[in-house]
Amino acid sequence: MTTVAAQSLSSESTITIHPQSGYTGAEISGVDLAQDLPDRVIAEIRQALLKWKVVFFRDQTIGHAEQVAFARRFGKVTPAHPYEDNPPPGFPEIFPIDSRRYGEQYGRKRTSYDSSWHTDVTALVNPPAFSILRADILPPYGGDTAWTNLVAAYENLPAPVRDLVDALDAEHTFESRAAQGGTRANAVARKPLRSFHPVVRVHPETGERALFVSPGFTRAAKNLRGLGPRLSSYLLDALWEEATRTEYTVRFRWQPGSVAFWDNRATAHLAIPDAGHLGHDRVLYRVTIEGDVPQGVDGRRSESVEGEPFHGS
Ligand code: SIN
Repeated sequence: MTTVAAQSLSSESTITIHPQSGYTGAEISGVDLAQDLPDRVIAEIRQALLKWKVVFFRDQTIGHAEQVAFARRFGKVTPAHPYEDNPPPGFPEIFPIDSRRYGEQYGRKRTSYDSSWHTDVTALVNPPAFSILRADILPPYGGDTAWTNLVAAYENLPAPVRDLVDALDAEHTFESRAAQGGTRANAVARKPLRSFHPVVRVHPETGERALFVSPGFTRAAKNLRGLGPRLSSYLLDALWEEATRTEYTVRFRWQPGSVAFWDNRATAHLAIPDAGHLGHDRVLYRVTIEGDVPQGVDGRRSESVEGEPFHGS
């Protein structure tokens, strides 16, 4: 592991933060996620997460129960996924990301259920606040995941562009996932999810502004409210490019026992589709924590067009 500069949060802190890139991602050492962690440690993890947007833990020996218990320390844990109908027995919160389920696309295994930049389930009016992903079966190489910092992407836009995007809303749908075929296509068609979110959302904990668009959920509709198809298309292409500029990203190499924990209110991520041709399986397990309804810079809220809010317990 390359440690840029290890940081302890305070003199009493037992955890150490190892930043992984200039803007995004830090590895946390000194934590055993199988334990019932003290509130102080949970608060330190949350603080690191809010700062680095995604945090990583290595060499953890946890199963579904410990993963869900850890997630509950940060909020209400949602069911696995709005379209998941076969979670592991006894664990309705666990969303398996299992290449063995997805079959082939273009004659190759699929690395993950989706291979485009996205923020989790933003077709919902209240997308999950956080996601926690645990690696189980991995290819010997390939199949990394990348995250991008949407706050950095927004803050580095020129001021006139920030003013423009502050006022826009984008349509988020599941349609592109349905179009990819597979087991979920029918479920998506039967129970569509569609919402408008502010293109710039204000983070409910940090107050930071984030460029809240990614192709995964906005490419099917390609609709910025009131702008029409041509301008929506040009602008979204430009915003996706800004949101995923390499300098805002971090790339995580999974190992058995790795856990990634990210803030969906400030990031998008990409399962890098470079493992399918190798023919190996890739299995990870995700849990998500209930999110609020995003708010734009002028206080306007996201609006649901189809589908219900997604609540946890
Ligand atoms: C996800 O999109 O939540 C999973 C990412 C991955 O498969 O690496």
